[in-house]
Amino acid sequence: MRYGVIMAGGGGTRFWPLSRINTPKQFLHIAGEDTMINNTIKRIKEIVPVDNIMIVANKAQENTLQEAVSEEIKDENILLEPVGRNTAACIGYAAMTIKKRHGDAVMGVFPSDHYIKNVTEFRRILEAAYEIAESTDKLVTIGIKPTFASTGYGYIRYNRDNFISSDGRLAYEVVDFVEKPPFSKAKQYLESGNYLWNSGMFIWKVSVILKSFERFLPKLYRSLMELEPYIDTEEEWSQIEKIYPTMQSISIDYGIMERSDEVVVIPGDFGWSDVGSWDSLGEVFPPDENGNIMRGDIIEIDTRNSVIYTNSHLVAAVGLENMIVVETADALLVCAKERAQDVKRVVDKLKEMG
Ligand code: GDD
Ligand code: MG
Repeated sequence: MRYGVIMAGGGGTRFWPLSRINTPKQFLHIAGEDTMINNTIKRIKEIVPVDNIMIVANKAQENTLQEAVSEEIKDENILLEPVGRNTAACIGYAAMTIKKRHGDAVMGVFPSDHYIKNVTEFRRILEAAYEIAESTDKLVTIGIKPTFASTGYGYIRYNRDNFISSDGRLAYEVVDFVEKPPFSKAKQYLESGNYLWNSGMFIWKVSVILKSFERFLPKLYRSLMELEPYIDTEEEWSQIEKIYPTMQSISIDYGIMERSDEVVVIPGDFGWSDVGSWDSLGEVFPPDENGNIMRGDIIEIDTRNSVIYTNSHLVAAVGLENMIVVETADALLVCAKERAQDVKRVVDKLKEMG
């Protein structure tokens, strides 16, 4: 039995002012016609029965989630968290739920906010990933060839001589998994040619990942065991409200992927972008002949290499270079393009100000 778990509880603060606490990136139409979460469902439902697709999101985002998802997802497959406790807790909760409903199964875990250009190729890789997870006890991840020294990704060093294969697709033994290295290391990894980026998608047996929780995150595992008897009962929400805030908050990457020796990687080349911030929109939409990406009602004169986005007023830009301008009904962002990562600091400041 195959399951797919979509993680949709992240903040998405770098897309302010379009993204807000309750409308993070995954619920927006940033990378095309449809919301990013809907695109995620459409991509995987050819490989995983739609009845087995689950979404884990924050309770506060419940309404936004319903509006953003037009694909048929069963109510019982929407798992809500009272507070976000990072991806390990989210994955553990989903794994426990699947275990309780079906016993062992293979689960794929997917971020809800990525852009993939070549969906057909992606599905081929994903099919192979499920097959390898079904036939082994490995933690399978999908790796992407790095193009710059990003400090926001996990890096995977793999052994080209040690692999398992499924239908012509190879999954290589992972020698080293380094989550979000400092810039100097990221640069070294990029130049060595021996590393792939972790795409943040994982495929594994429920029994295998729960064993990894028990081994590497025993405290978190105990919380999941505490929760288990209440899953799919009337008391589930009251228990989860009690237990969740006490759960260890750590990402699956730091918590398990960096520590396990059972990781394999399938390299994939399907036009992937995590669309992390305004300046990365160029990975999704080709810029025009002046290097600009413009969405909405815009007049531009002598503007170069800029991102301009408006969904409320007419915006006129004259002589801008390397700028980001984003306008919504109640806020305006004007930002130097090379400072796009710092937009999250605006959100921090707003939080401080209450
Ligand atoms: N339900 C739920 N609860 N979802 C969450 C939570 C949570 O507490 N925290 C994060 N998510 C969701 C986000 O919405 C996103 O879809 C996904 O989980 C991954 O979380 P991010 O916060 O975006 O992770 P990241 O981008 O810093 O790093 C991960 O992804 C990179 C690729 O984009 C890591 O796996 C890296 O190794 C990887 O390179
Ligand atoms: Mg991310």
